[in-house]
Amino acid sequence: MKIGILKETLDGERRVAITPNIAKQLIASGFELLVEEGAGEYSSFKDSDYKNVEVAVEKRAVIFHEAEVLLKINPFDEEDLKLVDEGQILISKLYHKSNPELIQAIANKGATAFSMDAIPRISRAQDMDVLSSQNNLAGYKAVILGAFEMTKIFPLMMTSAGTIAPARVLIYGVGVAGLQAIATAKRLGAIVEATDIRSETKEQAESLGAKFISVDNEGEETEGGYAKEASADYQKRQKEAVNKSLFQADLVITTANIPGRKAPVLITEEQVMQMKNGAVIIDLAAAQGGNCEVSEINKTIVRNGVKVIGTSIDPRSVSTNASDLYAKNIYNYIKHLTEGTNFKWDLEEEITDETLIVQNGIIRNN
Ligand code: NAI
Repeated sequence: MKIGILKETLDGERRVAITPNIAKQLIASGFELLVEEGAGEYSSFKDSDYKNVEVAVEKRAVIFHEAEVLLKINPFDEEDLKLVDEGQILISKLYHKSNPELIQAIANKGATAFSMDAIPRISRAQDMDVLSSQNNLAGYKAVILGAFEMTKIFPLMMTSAGTIAPARVLIYGVGVAGLQAIATAKRLGAIVEATDIRSETKEQAESLGAKFISVDNEGEETEGGYAKEASADYQKRQKEAVNKSLFQADLVITTANIPGRKAPVLITEEQVMQMKNGAVIIDLAAAQGGNCEVSEINKTIVRNGVKVIGTSIDPRSVSTNASDLYAKNIYNYIKHLTEGTNFKWDLEEEITDETLIVQNGIIRNN
């Protein structure tokens, strides 16, 4: 079976779906691989690296024409779909719930599409979970960006010239990104505090050395272990519990999301106005509407001396590692879907069932 790796066309994207190392493993499993010219150039992989592991380097049109399976990171777009043929299998992120036109366009082509962002959050799918592997890097990078934007250093420093107190970092949302942000800020020497609506995250935050700020979450439901929208009452209790730490913080990183919903507002403009002069907020939920009332995606807004940076910190800014992890996830996923080099089409199986969005032109109900 021929698998084609396409060059990403989304503005600013620097990752590639399959790295030479993973290509080698797929070839060893019996697949034939083609890669578009220059697909890995922004993530430090040269065409010659692919050639060295027996991947054919081809022009875009050839990949679309010859490959039975097409791989991308970002959703296939209108331009891609012009080149897609009936019966081809597309694997990428699709965000199918918020992209009905795209899904319809794929179906109109008579193609089949699997979505990497629909991988269920179950233990046996962990090694295929691109949202986690990429969010982990975002958590790391958020701290590095914060350190760069701050006018203070992280660690306690005692020298004969004087003593510098450690920076205080506050993390909202102890999911995948939040946990990595805690670990990174601790490694740099900050005093780290964290809060989350799910009380089970207390132990995880503490195991990484953060102080957990508990908020009474009585009556707040979770769904399958994931957060749901918090009540107004919880939001009030959260403010009361966290405000003291917020107003002392040098760096605040917000990562709170509710699957399929707008991100919750956790820091109002009024709270920003009471923060320390020079403090920095990195709002990783800015693309989903933001955890800080002030933030706007891809903008730095200064309010009363507080810098509010709205970003998603795309893993593309660490494209080599991000591609490595993404490629490993997609490798595990392809191995899961296939037997030998043929697809199993086991629709009774949860991972296949939840990620197969269009099958031979028919939109599935998921
Ligand atoms: P996410 O990106 O959807 O949200 C980040 C965090 O924000 C979550 O911990 C959530 O509880 C928190 N949050 C939401 N609303 C909040 C509010 N009002 N106030 C404070 N915090 C709020 O979550 P992520 O990182 O994608 O995953 C969440 C959890 O799912 C992880 O901790 C992990 O245990 C689990 N998970 C399981 C996987 C698997 O079994 N395959 C894979 C990935 C995650």
